[in-house]
Amino acid sequence: MLDIMHNKRLSVAPMIDWTTTDYRYFARLFNPHVYLYTEMISTGAILHGNTDRLLRYDDIQHPLVLQLGGADIGEMSRCTVIAQQRGFDEININVGCPSDKVQHNKIGACLMAEPDTVASLVRHMQAEVDIPVTVKHRIGIDEYDSYEFMRDFVAASAEAGCQRFIVHARIAWLQGLSPKQNREIPPLRYDDVYRLKQEFPELDIEINGGIDSIEQIKQHLQQVDGVMIGRAAYHNPYILSEAMQLWGEPSISREHILDKLYPYLEQQVANGEPLPSIARHLLGLFQGLPGARKWRQALSGKQQLSVDEIKAAADYTFQLIHKAEQAEQADS
Ligand SMILES: Cc1cc2nc3c(=O)[nH]c(=O)nc-3n(C[C@H](O)[C@H](O)[C@H](O)COP(=O)(O)O)c2cc1C
Repeated sequence: MLDIMHNKRLSVAPMIDWTTTDYRYFARLFNPHVYLYTEMISTGAILHGNTDRLLRYDDIQHPLVLQLGGADIGEMSRCTVIAQQRGFDEININVGCPSDKVQHNKIGACLMAEPDTVASLVRHMQAEVDIPVTVKHRIGIDEYDSYEFMRDFVAASAEAGCQRFIVHARIAWLQGLSPKQNREIPPLRYDDVYRLKQEFPELDIEINGGIDSIEQIKQHLQQVDGVMIGRAAYHNPYILSEAMQLWGEPSISREHILDKLYPYLEQQVANGEPLPSIARHLLGLFQGLPGARKWRQALSGKQQLSVDEIKAAADYTFQLIHKAEQAEQADS
């Protein structure tokens, strides 16, 4: 198998409430190479909240990127220093999230209308740390929707020292669409991202939005330096194992992943963490296979759950898969 990942990157997108430390542990078991992102964490939460809990992670999660939501230079710089001290490999500034809450705080996608503010954040944050400060953004927002607008936005932050840009390849409409609609309705504009890479060959340009198969990942990697996948990696995490072929390596089996996961689950239970809130991240493990629905049913909507129940549900699902395989062989 051929390793096509030289100087290329595959990442799992930052997703609030989804890419928690538990999900990231699980995701890492599928693939040791992918870059994992935290959920967006606001500077206020880090500086005034339960920092230890918010920024906790297990060492196996490296390479790991902390995504920050904020626009205040002082606060963002302080959080950047904290992130480096805590061992994160990279800091990412959120310039793509369109929710009302972030708009109210003037962070996220609305920062696209302020290229100078973002460039200034990059400059000050990067001056504080050795790890890279990167930007995740949209193609545009509202009436700022031309390719040229994005190009100038990127040029300003690149000039300030940002080397990597992750582009969610659609614009966001800040009025009238929910965040979910803003991930679905504005059309994808992959060609604009390819063009960006052509105009800035020295920058690392990573493409994001609507990518959900290995074939698509391969195609994008011919044009740009990286691919970021979000929903596909959450709903069907096994895609990360299939992606091992990009590094010229074999997929990691679900059995192997579960063997590694069980001790983690036992440890979390011993720490007093509620298992149902971890199990919700495991629902996609058998996506597309016989028994996927039974597996989801066994794990979801429970007030209480034990590791033994999860093991029993997995064993039962493997039996269903095995039976289906035998029936298929008998047919052919
Ligand atoms: C539940 C959910 C939460 C998200 N939270 C964030 C976030 O915290 N920061 C961010 O930059 N993007 C966030 N996004 C957007 C994703 O990072 C990604 O850009 C988007 O889902 C498009 O990629 P996909 O089509 O591969 O899912 C979120 C998306 C989802 C589905």
